Amino acid sequence: MGKFTVLNHPLIQHKLTIIRDKSTGTKVFREVANEIAELMVYEITRDLPLDDVEIETPMGKTVQKQLAGKKLAVVPILRAGLGMVDGVLELIPAAKVGHIGMYRDEKTLEPHEYFVKMPPDIDQRDLFIVDPMLATGGSANMAIDALKKRGAHNMRLVVLVAAPEGVRAVQEAHPDVDIYAAALDEKLTDNGYIFPGLGDAGDRLFGTK
Ligand code: URA
Repeated sequence: MGKFTVLNHPLIQHKLTIIRDKSTGTKVFREVANEIAELMVYEITRDLPLDDVEIETPMGKTVQKQLAGKKLAVVPILRAGLGMVDGVLELIPAAKVGHIGMYRDEKTLEPHEYFVKMPPDIDQRDLFIVDPMLATGGSANMAIDALKKRGAHNMRLVVLVAAPEGVRAVQEAHPDVDIYAAALDEKLTDNGYIFPGLGDAGDRLFGTK
């Protein structure tokens, strides 16, 4: 079973309250969603491997630590996942970015990929899949399937708000994928929104309805 972790640092909780508030406009929503993503990635990357490196300070030679150069990539699930990418890149500027877009056929309810563009070496990278809302888990599971089909095998799912139903669905379908959320909310509503949630993340990020 994949781990589910709520990253409830006080700064994350404070910023999440700002974007939950319906009076927060597009500009601030966009800025603060990225700030939360940045803080989350700071916490999630605590286990990045380090190498020793010899350098010289003005005082003399010393052996210190530097990142071992693990290959990372951030993969936003279109469209709302785009609202977390800049925050991740703020801390990991060299990460590659893969994009994945899916829709569900309204008649057959079959999932279809309409856009997948990944770095060529995703089988060698640690992937951070980002999507603000983990609601039913349907699109996260589809995205993980699509990435596994292309050879990816080291993935973490990073969301702002999760519903218990979505967490369960991903844990059941992909027990090898750890999930990180800024908050675990109460429930899914009948029409698939997270309560209390923050509304439609894509619409709030991009100013659409
Ligand atoms: N997607 C959203 O944008 N919001 C929700 O509450 C659920 C899914």
